[in-house]
Amino acid sequence: MERTLILLKPDAVQRGICGQILGRFEQKGLKVVGLKLMRITPELAARHYEAHREKKFYAGLVKFMTSGPVVAIALEGIDCIRIARNLMGATFGADAAPGTIRGDFGVSRSFNLVHGSDSKEAAEKELKLFFPEGVLDYAYDAFAWVYDPIEELKK
Ligand code: RTP
Ligand code: MG
Repeated sequence: MERTLILLKPDAVQRGICGQILGRFEQKGLKVVGLKLMRITPELAARHYEAHREKKFYAGLVKFMTSGPVVAIALEGIDCIRIARNLMGATFGADAAPGTIRGDFGVSRSFNLVHGSDSKEAAEKELKLFFPEGVLDYAYDAFAWVYDPIEELKK
């Protein structure tokens, strides 16, 4: 099992489509192990987007991500980092394929609704930043029907 951090960005909250976006991850079969509405401080944004500090879009990105509440979500599932990124679609809404979250809900380069960790290392770092208290461990009955217990759960 793998874990990833998803952020529903300020545009998703202000457009009132958080439920629909969260539903995309749930219906795919990923388990929600952390969920909260919160504000990102400039300090947290700086740590989260450390890798982009030198990019020309950095200042605008931090301004956007701190402009209103976000929803932080911790997801769990086999290969869930890659699966979540596939559900999100390409970075810019206009390029993202129909059927993906960014492809179905937006057209913008910067207001692109959702963030997802892009590697195991990033997921570990970002989950610690957004869920320092840890995530919730509980039995998720859907997994019995999402995965073939003979095939996937024995790996
Ligand atoms: P994210 O980190 O938000 O999940 O998005 P991503 O991996 O698909 O894209 P990344 O390259 O990590 O860029 C982070 C965020 O910066 C904004 N961006 N703007 N104007 C631009 O050229 C530009 N490039 C990137 C986007 O909001 C992107 O999600
Ligand atoms: Mg990224």
